[in-house]
Amino acid sequence: MMHSIQPWWQKGVVYQIYPRSFQDSNHDGIGDLQGIIQRLDYLAGLGVDAIWISPFYPSPMADFGYDVADYCGVHPLFGDLATFDRLVSEAHQRGLRIIVDYVPNHTSDQHPWFQESAASRDNPKRDWYIWRDARPDGSLPNNWGSVFGGPAWTRHPATGQFYLHQFLKEQPDLNWRNPQVHQAMFDVLRFWLQRGVDGFRMDVIGMILKDAELRDNPLNPQANPNLPENDIFGRQIHLYNEDQDDVHEIMRGIRQLMDEAGGRVAIGELWFPPKRWVRYYGQNNDELHLPFNFRLMEQPFTASTIRASVDEMEALLPAWAWPNYVLGNHDQPRLASRIGPAATRLAAMLLLTLRGTPTLYQGDELGMENGVIPPERIQDPQGLALGAERSRDVCRTPMQWDASPFAGFSTVEPWLPVSAGYVTQNVAALDADPKSILTLYRRLLQLRRASPALHGGSYAPLDTPEPVFAFIRDSESETCLVALNFSDQPASLSLTQTGRIVLSTHLDRREVRGRNLELRPYEGVILAL
Ligand code: NOJ
Ligand code: CA
Repeated sequence: MMHSIQPWWQKGVVYQIYPRSFQDSNHDGIGDLQGIIQRLDYLAGLGVDAIWISPFYPSPMADFGYDVADYCGVHPLFGDLATFDRLVSEAHQRGLRIIVDYVPNHTSDQHPWFQESAASRDNPKRDWYIWRDARPDGSLPNNWGSVFGGPAWTRHPATGQFYLHQFLKEQPDLNWRNPQVHQAMFDVLRFWLQRGVDGFRMDVIGMILKDAELRDNPLNPQANPNLPENDIFGRQIHLYNEDQDDVHEIMRGIRQLMDEAGGRVAIGELWFPPKRWVRYYGQNNDELHLPFNFRLMEQPFTASTIRASVDEMEALLPAWAWPNYVLGNHDQPRLASRIGPAATRLAAMLLLTLRGTPTLYQGDELGMENGVIPPERIQDPQGLALGAERSRDVCRTPMQWDASPFAGFSTVEPWLPVSAGYVTQNVAALDADPKSILTLYRRLLQLRRASPALHGGSYAPLDTPEPVFAFIRDSESETCLVALNFSDQPASLSLTQTGRIVLSTHLDRREVRGRNLELRPYEGVILAL
């Protein structure tokens, strides 16, 4: 049994804010840091422990902030460093931690480093990025594709060479094999640590090192034949452009910085298969604290597939490694649209009762669905390049605070349209409803925080047939049983013990159960045994 005190990032729950779409405070239709400050009471009241804020740095916004032109500043749209400092102190006063986004794979092409690097072949910063000549036959330096479509190379006319960009051509990849780049990017971490941030979410961290020889990737024979013509990236096996063995040395360096600062968390965005992914925890608890686990989003939402994913994860992790789960973020279709509105309460209970740190995405606590974006209002470069169905705008529509014309997000037309459902699906309306999904999230968050079994206990699945996924969470002082019905039909479960229902997704039962537990369609319950 665990006697040591759990670090905050194991015990707590992370809430992701997409700052453009959370709260506008100065009537320009774009969310900002002051807007976040105004909503800190909401977040504290919701019961989350940390907020991760997507990039707010100076940026030409080719990829809405994931193209950074200055790692140590704040875009004037979002505020300034003084506003950021105020955000940190106001958050800390409320017991909320601040996690910032760190984008180490690429800068903006407007970053002074790239401007210098591009200026001439012998510029001292030339080697800060990855420049190559065309192959002798005039073709691109290798066959890699950009995640956003087209080749990963763009020719720079002034110097006649190509530079590598695994995302937009406005996002040139940094050369982490250059010690000065390594140093400069570690200085960025130090800058924010000194400003008092509690951790980092690290963008595509497994891509920062590429094969030293930049060899061609093999083609993937299993690639979906219906990919758009320009989706070169989607047709390859990513053997050489990412997940190189020597990246782990950099991960250990990052962890060392975190350990020296104390009490901070390193979270990484990683999409690799389980056996490759798990290595980012380190061999000996010496790399990332939480390599993001996206696998619950990647499969059908059924009892057996979800259980299999959880069990695979639990079996894979070394004893000291802490699991984590994600059901939505700013890159994926909305949870409610993916699994259907009827299942969203069940998803909330799943995410907040599993063993491991949950990350919630803003608006999922309201059951927000994909926004409907008219073609002429598509903003996302991925949607513009690879087709409207790949547009990430759908999950980036403004947060819905109340029933006023722009949902309380702004007083003017926002950068993306407010979703149609906002008149009823907003914080003010759901707050007033004791049975709403928002009330359920609050109750789950309260319960998780108060319950040693839920935030720290062990996990053991029960062998229940479809459509029920049930598991025991056990700590020294208490034992909980969670039973989740993944179907639109009633289900029943026979238990070996009796228990008291402490929470139902439907927020209408609190009773002692005999050995037989009946669950309504998509109902989940937490029992205290
Ligand atoms: C992952 C981020 O989550 C996504 O929004 C971004 O477009 C890419 N990385 C490139 O930075
Ligand atoms: Ca604003």
